[in-house]
Amino acid sequence: MNRHPARPLPPCPSAAAEHPPVFGPDAPWLAPLAGYSDLPFRLLCREYGAAVCVTEMVSAKGLVYHSPGTAELLASLPEDQPLVVQLFGAEASFLGQAVGLLREAGYGWFDLNMGCSVPKVLKQKAGAAMLGDVENALDVARAMIAAAEPGHVGFKLRLGLDDGRQVWRELALRLQDAGAGWLTLHPRTARQGFGGEARHEALAELAPQLSIPLLASGDLFSAEDGLRVQTATGVSGVMYARGALHDPTIFAAHLALQRGEPVPPVTPRRLRAVIDRHISLSRRHCSDDAVLWKMRSVVPRYVKHLPGARALRHALCQCTDWEALQDILEEFLPQ
Ligand SMILES: Cc1cc2nc3c(=O)[nH]c(=O)nc-3n(C[C@H](O)[C@H](O)[C@H](O)COP(=O)(O)O)c2cc1C
Repeated sequence: MNRHPARPLPPCPSAAAEHPPVFGPDAPWLAPLAGYSDLPFRLLCREYGAAVCVTEMVSAKGLVYHSPGTAELLASLPEDQPLVVQLFGAEASFLGQAVGLLREAGYGWFDLNMGCSVPKVLKQKAGAAMLGDVENALDVARAMIAAAEPGHVGFKLRLGLDDGRQVWRELALRLQDAGAGWLTLHPRTARQGFGGEARHEALAELAPQLSIPLLASGDLFSAEDGLRVQTATGVSGVMYARGALHDPTIFAAHLALQRGEPVPPVTPRRLRAVIDRHISLSRRHCSDDAVLWKMRSVVPRYVKHLPGARALRHALCQCTDWEALQDILEEFLPQ
């Protein structure tokens, strides 16, 4: 049965091919963050200096079959560049088709998720499960690479399924040989999830063996972490994930430190400005209900370290309209 859709994907609003991803110590990336690296958050992070942003992971199969929700994940704007679309899936034919459809719609840069360890993704043999079958992972990689412009596909991996089954050395070099444009390594095993510590020494071992850029991910909670790992490992650049979720100004801090300038302290006033900006970008680009719902989980992350954060979280759970949200913010973070 041919279930290939007749409808085109939403067009990418700018000529993506003209905005290549940049790599370097002064080009920090925003990581793919399912549920979070949506258009408003990407725009927010770009305002603070994120050089490249990666979308939330998009199911290749969902994209090919036009599953509900896929178009929202691809929402973008001309100023949302350079942009990398992250795909997940374990079947070469779907990944190749997905890249083809995205290219027709004007998207130019792609990444494959080989690191996600949530059960929903592992069950599909995708994400970090791909590290358990290197030959299939390479077939999928080749299908994506063949469907894209040369060098336009990156791969984001972990060390392996567990300590006894580490494949990162072999897989990284074979991905490079297959034509990968860049690699990102989150140096934990799938079994580790987010536990223990990221083993940054793996990045230091891999970086000199590659001729393509290598990005570091993992336990980069502050700009100081990012710069330390960048310098210690010799990677081409870093990708902020949870660090950006807690503080999108991490990109500005990274760039300041890189220039040898002091980092301005994160004050309640500054946090309020970040939250207000996130709300305003979200209200402009998403439906009201969805944004209000999202803010109930986003705001507590920003204020996690402030006194009264628990009470704020509790108040937000009760909040059902924008006026109530503004009142709560005014009470906890007066301008
Ligand atoms: C909420 C959340 C969502 C994530 N979603 C994705 C995703 O869609 N694709 C992906 O490759 N990694 C995803 N990751 C992993 C991050 O991109 C990153 O590699 C990981 O968090 C390690 O970096 P950190 O320790 O600095 O947070 C996610 C992580 C978090 C916390």
